[in-house]
Amino acid sequence: MATTFEEITARELKPALFELDGISRETIEAHYKLYQGYVNKRNEILGKLGGVDLASANQVYSDVRALKVELSFAIGGIKNHEIYFEHLGGSGGDPAGVFGDLVKRDFGSVGDWKADLKATGMGGRGWAWTAYDWDEGRLFNYIGDAQNSYPIWNATPLVALDVYEHAYFIDFGTDRAAYIEKFLDNLDYDVVNDWVQKYGIRA
Ligand SMILES: [Fe+2]
Repeated sequence: MATTFEEITARELKPALFELDGISRETIEAHYKLYQGYVNKRNEILGKLGGVDLASANQVYSDVRALKVELSFAIGGIKNHEIYFEHLGGSGGDPAGVFGDLVKRDFGSVGDWKADLKATGMGGRGWAWTAYDWDEGRLFNYIGDAQNSYPIWNATPLVALDVYEHAYFIDFGTDRAAYIEKFLDNLDYDVVNDWVQKYGIRA
């Protein structure tokens, strides 16, 4: 037995996710299925890892490698989407509270933060995150190309902007910039500020 684990189940969506401004129920339902897929994959891979005989031949290392790379993709997909779904359903605007203070302190203004996040989202293949980096003691907008690239150690994501086509193609076609605007319009900053408080981040 290489490892033990508990199976997890997908979190349910808040009803507000089906009433977003500009991001359709159809998109959210399809997107949620992808998230459920990551949850199932995570359980499946951990089960397989549990069955790997680590005492057997060298072949096992390539098996472990493949499973662990796949696991990072599945777990990344779970974490990214749980943030994404949880902090949508609000009315956007300018962030208030401690998160608003952090944004102004670390980016100069809300407009500068949004401009940087949008540019990061336009440049990323999969994700853009606003994360609090505990070593730097400040917010950064980090870029992601996939579910498992490029996490930064000791940084806590507070905003997760999904820019994979599956997040917007049904509603916006190829117009990713319009989708990013709508994503920001639907952000619930109360949720983000709850996380700021929960994690003990201070401005
Ligand atoms: Fe996604």
